[in-house]
Formats: sequence, C-alpha cells, structure tokens
Amino acid sequence: MEVTRERAWETLTEYTKSEPLRRHALAVEAGVGAYAAKFGEDEALWRATALLHDFDYEIHPTLDKHPQDGAPILREQGYPEELIEAVLSHAGHLSMPRDTPLKKTLFACDELSGFVHACGLVRPDGIETLEPKSVRKKLKQPSFAAAVDREEVQRGIEELEVDPDEHIALIIGALAERSDELGLGARARPGSES
Ligand SMILES: [Fe+2]
Ligand SMILES: [Fe+2]
Repeated sequence: MEVTRERAWETLTEYTKSEPLRRHALAVEAGVGAYAAKFGEDEALWRATALLHDFDYEIHPTLDKHPQDGAPILREQGYPEELIEAVLSHAGHLSMPRDTPLKKTLFACDELSGFVHACGLVRPDGIETLEPKSVRKKLKQPSFAAAVDREEVQRGIEELEVDPDEHIALIIGALAERSDELGLGARARPGSES
C-alpha cells in the first residue's frame, strides 16, 4: 500500500473518537512533519507514523496493551514495518532501540508537543508569541501540565541531538501553523494568564 496522510487519518479516526486524543495526534504530526521537511525525509511516511503512534490508545488504554496490541491491526491494514516499528519504539516500556531518525523524532515530539500545547492554551494571545524560554521555565514548574514526563522530554532532546531552544521553537512554529485545528488561536480568555 502507499502510505498517505489521508489513509493514516482514516485509520486514526476509525479507532479514535476522542477529540483530545485526535488533537494529540495532530499536534505530534505537526512537529514530526516539520522535521521531515527539515531533514528532507519522506513526509507522508513520517506524518502517518505520528498520526498513528497512539491510534490504539482508546481501545488499549493500558501499557500491557498499548501500543503492542495495535501493531497487528496496522500490519493487517498494510502499513509498512518501518512505520509499525517506529510506532512501537515510542513506548519506553517496550525498551526498543530508537535507532532511526524517524524513531528519534517521534519520541522527541510526543511529550513535548503536548506540553507546548498546554503552554499555548494559557496564553491570552495564543501560541504565536510563545517563546522557547517561557516553555523551558514552565518545564521547571512541576505543577504545570504535571502529567507531562519531564525526563522523557529531556531524553527526547538528547536522543535527537538538537538544541533545546531550536527544538522547542520548531514545535511552537508547527503548532502555530495549525492553531485553529488545535484550539490555540488568539482570543480573549478572561481569567487566563500569560
Ligand atoms: Fe503512546
Ligand atoms: Fe503520544
């Protein structure tokens, strides 16, 4: 089969009905897609991988099933092993080596895109004016977006071997491009702080 973004979106939405989970997939896709363009890699494959990395989370919400029990479904649907292996490698509990640029990029964008998304949501003027240093500051506040694993964010940056500020800036830019879809546009939000 030919891997396309559209096909991956179809698979994702077939298994994932939750709006926040779809948004998470779109946010990670934005970052991974930006890296594919930057590195001159196969953008369709990279975008599809990002869209599908948590496709089975709704049906397999526990780590004894996610993402490993999703793999046979992807295989059945005809997705290539390169994509399936990358999907599996994002899960720390499977201890699979992240030995390709796609695997490293997916891992580096997964937790951080959720965190940058959260940073954008609390800004009255949206994500456009968000700066990497403000994201780094919030990473040091354990109570902000507490569910985001800071160690994974750090490990992702180290494995991808990128400058933290450049990495954060790329993710901000990628999310900003899709701010409407991600609910991150500028608007008046009474009571929210910048
Ligand atoms: Fe996951
Ligand atoms: Fe994820």
